[in-house]
Amino acid sequence: MKVLFVGDVVGRPGRRAVAALLPVLKTEHALDLVIVNGENAAGGAGLTAEIAKELRSSGADVVTNGNHVWDQRSFKDEIDGLDFALRPLNLPPNNPGRGWCVSRGALVVNALGRVFMANMDDPFRMIDELLAELGETAPRVRILDWHAEATSEKLAMGWHLDGRFSAVVGSHTHVPTADARVLPHGTALVCDTGMVGPRDSILGMDTATILQRFRTGMPQRFDVAGGPVVFNSVLVDVDEATGRARSIVRVDREFA
Ligand code: FE2
Repeated sequence: MKVLFVGDVVGRPGRRAVAALLPVLKTEHALDLVIVNGENAAGGAGLTAEIAKELRSSGADVVTNGNHVWDQRSFKDEIDGLDFALRPLNLPPNNPGRGWCVSRGALVVNALGRVFMANMDDPFRMIDELLAELGETAPRVRILDWHAEATSEKLAMGWHLDGRFSAVVGSHTHVPTADARVLPHGTALVCDTGMVGPRDSILGMDTATILQRFRTGMPQRFDVAGGPVVFNSVLVDVDEATGRARSIVRVDREFA
C-alpha cells in the first residue's frame, strides 16, 4: 500500500500547490491513501469545512489537524459533519470531532505532542488505549500524524510505536527533516515532513512581520507569504499483510 503524507498546508498558496501537484503524484506513484495536514490551510491558521472539502477534492482521503484546530471559530460546529477530517486524539474529551478514522482500509490517527506545546493529555498512553480498544478489529496499516515540536518527543513516539504502527510521520514545525527511516520492527519514521507553503518565508508566513515580532516582542498580524511554494511530503510503502513499512522516502517539489 502506497501512502503519501503531505506536510502542513499553509493558506491559499499551499492549497493551490496541493490542487496542482497531488493529482500528478497520485498517478505517478499509484497512491492508495493520501493524508494531508490541514491545520494551517485557512489563511495560515486553522481549517474550515469548506477548505477541508477543497483539500478532499484535490485528492486527500484524510485531512489531519494540530494545535491550531479551533483557530477558525466555525470549525468546532462543522467537524462532526466531516467523516474524513480529524482533530488531535489527545484533546480534552469534551472536544467535538474525533482523533482517528479508518480510510481505504488503514487506521489514521492524529495526535499532539506536549513538549513546548499546550498541555494535552498523554498521547503515548492514549494511543496505547486506542489500540487496546480496537483490539483485533484494528486495521494492519496504521499511520500516525504526530504533530509535535521537539525532535526528542517525535523520536520517542516512533520508538514507542515501533512494530505497532506502519508509520509515525511528524508535522508542525514546517521544516522538513532528513531522518526518514524504517525502525527495526517496521515503523517508518520522520521527525518532520515539512509544509506546503511559500518558500521565501518564515514557516510560510511573511518574513517582515515575523522579523518585526522577534525584534520588538510586540504582537503582529501574521500574513501568509507570497512567491514560489515548496511541497513537502513523504511516501511510505507498507506491506498490507503485516502492516510493516517497506520504505519511506521524501517527495519534495516546488510550485511556481
Ligand atoms: Fe502546528
